[in-house]
Amino acid sequence: MHTLQETLTRRGIDGELQSLIETLANCANEISALVRGGALAGVLGATESENVQGETQKKLDVIANDLIKDALSAQPLVKGLASEEEDHVVPAHADGRFLVSFDPLDGSSNIDINSLVGTIFSVLPAPAGDVTEAAFMQPGKNQVAACYMLYGPATVMALTTGDGTLMFTLDPKTGDFMLVEERVQIPEDTAEFAINMSNQRFWQPAMQAYIADCLKGKEGQRGKNFNMRWIAAMVGDVHRVLSRGGLFTYPQDTKNPAKPFKLRLMYEANPMSFLVEQAGGVASTGYERIMAIQPEQIHQRVAVILGSKNEVNTCLDYHG
Ligand code: AHG
Ligand code: MN
Ligand code: MN
Repeated sequence: MHTLQETLTRRGIDGELQSLIETLANCANEISALVRGGALAGVLGATESENVQGETQKKLDVIANDLIKDALSAQPLVKGLASEEEDHVVPAHADGRFLVSFDPLDGSSNIDINSLVGTIFSVLPAPAGDVTEAAFMQPGKNQVAACYMLYGPATVMALTTGDGTLMFTLDPKTGDFMLVEERVQIPEDTAEFAINMSNQRFWQPAMQAYIADCLKGKEGQRGKNFNMRWIAAMVGDVHRVLSRGGLFTYPQDTKNPAKPFKLRLMYEANPMSFLVEQAGGVASTGYERIMAIQPEQIHQRVAVILGSKNEVNTCLDYHG
């Protein structure tokens, strides 16, 4: 068994990126301990505040955000950071090499029901000049690393630096993330999809038609029965896709015309797309590769369809 550090060194990851990844892992280690403490750690329940996106912040959203913000601000390699829970980008070290975007706590609605939550990180190269929102406006294909940590029955981390997707499990006795899978491969075919079915009537015709055909099962044109799962935390759903395949989507909908998409490009869709593509999967909006999108705002939202290659491509065929 190899630690995160041993693995990154063996794979020849440059020392600075390695140091940054270890900072991210340490944050997850601390958040994991708080999540495990539950009510005893005083982390359940909501705050009185809202984030810039108009969502009520849970206590753990704020705690995890502050913890990561402090750790990244103390890491000299970080030039600036952007978070779901920060209205604006936060400058850190003028001569830092990296910009880090993050979702400190993904799946906030799960925290009070003791269900899956996680953290998502995306690392971009820092351009010269000041840390403004413009510095972050790089397509996902520029990412130098992406990872998520899932605080489940075990705490796990999926990581890519552009050479495959690796899976680690946190050893609670030593605090080390141990390598458990060096080259994650998403099965190309699947009979499992993940979508919030309660929004069905608000989807576009393409998604309506795709899901309707899945639901027809063996008797329909797909000729096989499908299974459905929805964790309400993208980290949980993407972890299942990396573990056994599947299609995960949060499509465009008309439920709230002012908000046609749910998931955020910079700290949800892009890092997850990088991890999925590096494991042989596909990640698209339905009309274009997510990692090719030129971002315009730090908190912009996007439609997401990702997972098993052949199944995602079938879904994309419906989008024409
Ligand atoms: P967050 O908790 O960071 O706001 O993200 C929640 C996201 C995503 O993780 C999940 O897939 C989706 O919202 C769940 O949405 P529904 O509440 O519509 O199921
Ligand atoms: Mn999230
Ligand atoms: Mn979040």
